[in-house]
Amino acid sequence: MTTKANTPAGSSAAGLRGVAAATSSISDVNGEKGELIYQGYNIHDLAKQSTFEEVVFLLWNKQLPTAPELQELEQSLRAEYGLPSEIIALMKQFPREADPIDILRTVVSACEFYDSTARDLSREASVRTAIKLTSQFPTIVAASDRIRKGLEPVKPDPNLNIAANFLYMLKGEIPSERDARIFDVCLILHADHELNASTFTARVVAGTLADMYAAVTGAVGALSGPLHGGANTAVMKTLLEIGSIENVEPFVKRALAEKRKIMGFGHAVYKTEDPRATHLREFSKQAGELAGDSKWYEMSRKVEEVIKSEKGLYPNVDFFSASTYYMMGIPLDLYTPIFAISRISGWTGHILEQYADNKLIRPRAEYIGARDLPYVPRDQRA
Ligand SMILES: CC(C)(COP(=O)(O)OP(=O)(O)OC[C@H]1O[C@@H](n2cnc3c(N)ncnc32)[C@H](O)[C@@H]1OP(=O)(O)O)[C@@H](O)C(=O)NCCC(=O)NCCS
Repeated sequence: MTTKANTPAGSSAAGLRGVAAATSSISDVNGEKGELIYQGYNIHDLAKQSTFEEVVFLLWNKQLPTAPELQELEQSLRAEYGLPSEIIALMKQFPREADPIDILRTVVSACEFYDSTARDLSREASVRTAIKLTSQFPTIVAASDRIRKGLEPVKPDPNLNIAANFLYMLKGEIPSERDARIFDVCLILHADHELNASTFTARVVAGTLADMYAAVTGAVGALSGPLHGGANTAVMKTLLEIGSIENVEPFVKRALAEKRKIMGFGHAVYKTEDPRATHLREFSKQAGELAGDSKWYEMSRKVEEVIKSEKGLYPNVDFFSASTYYMMGIPLDLYTPIFAISRISGWTGHILEQYADNKLIRPRAEYIGARDLPYVPRDQRA
């Protein structure tokens, strides 16, 4: 096993902390410096200057696109926004109270039935599948929200980019340029993060040469947990529970005294500010100003201040994305599916990388159980 050079000292095998379990050029996290790069480009440069579609190209192709290459990818993505009618019909049968992230997991798995080349793992066919999945994730998530509200899904608009199209399909109206750009950058910031739990899951499944739908279905399952992508919804629930800025300090101190975790803080790799949080803090502020309600941003800043002084912990990507999405009027239980709308680009990039140089991922467990026990017949056991 190799250990990553930029991993904090004291890493243990528990949770595979610090273990490099794959080689990849897609992204790298330097936990000490608080640095994140995609294919060599710093996340701060991409957040300021790039678009989500350009980042998708970068993750899949190891380089930024030329203008014609970007245009071609954008056209291919927009051509795939729609879902098979059978999938919409299936979604209408799900229970109204089903969690949108579970709907997404189930629908991705079902989409495999309607892709005749799903089992073709060549680079060419796999890129086509990656385009489909990246295009259709927003449509699935928006449709699941409309259907549970008893509304018809809004047809995707191929004139809009992925970010604007999602907000359009969710609300039925074209978003403001400001909201669309904030959301576009949120997608850039969540696109990839090295070998996090869901990406590792995707690679493990792809490593068996199962198809991309199987790998992505597993990844969505891993993302749904509260210690991973589920944290952003939990953050907003905590803020709503705290309710006011005056309650922040007593609430956080009590939670820490009771050894409860405050969602959106701490990170398995970053031991300093998560560079994604730097942008999201600003977006939370801007989204609050745009909506004329800065309460949630101010409360978030106070939570940040108290946790920093009490525990020395920094906010991660989930903390300020919660109040940003809340101010954009997005329902709480869509925050984790939104994470997936972005992360599908990284998952598929890693799956393409895995297929290109595959080796079955099969680690060993350190056995700590008993050995050589005599088998006692069932009727003689105490
Ligand atoms: C992300 C996370 C799982 C990383 O875990 P980790 O690197 O294994 O860190 P640990 O859980 O071992 O925590 C180390 C210490 O910090 C504390 N800590 C870590 N995150 C904390 C949090 N969010 N709130 C309060 N205390 C926290 C732990 O209790 C532990 O304290 P101790 O040494 O006194 O026991 C963890 O920080 C966490 O659960 N955060 C909340 C969930 C979250 O926001 N997830 C999204 C990640 S992007």
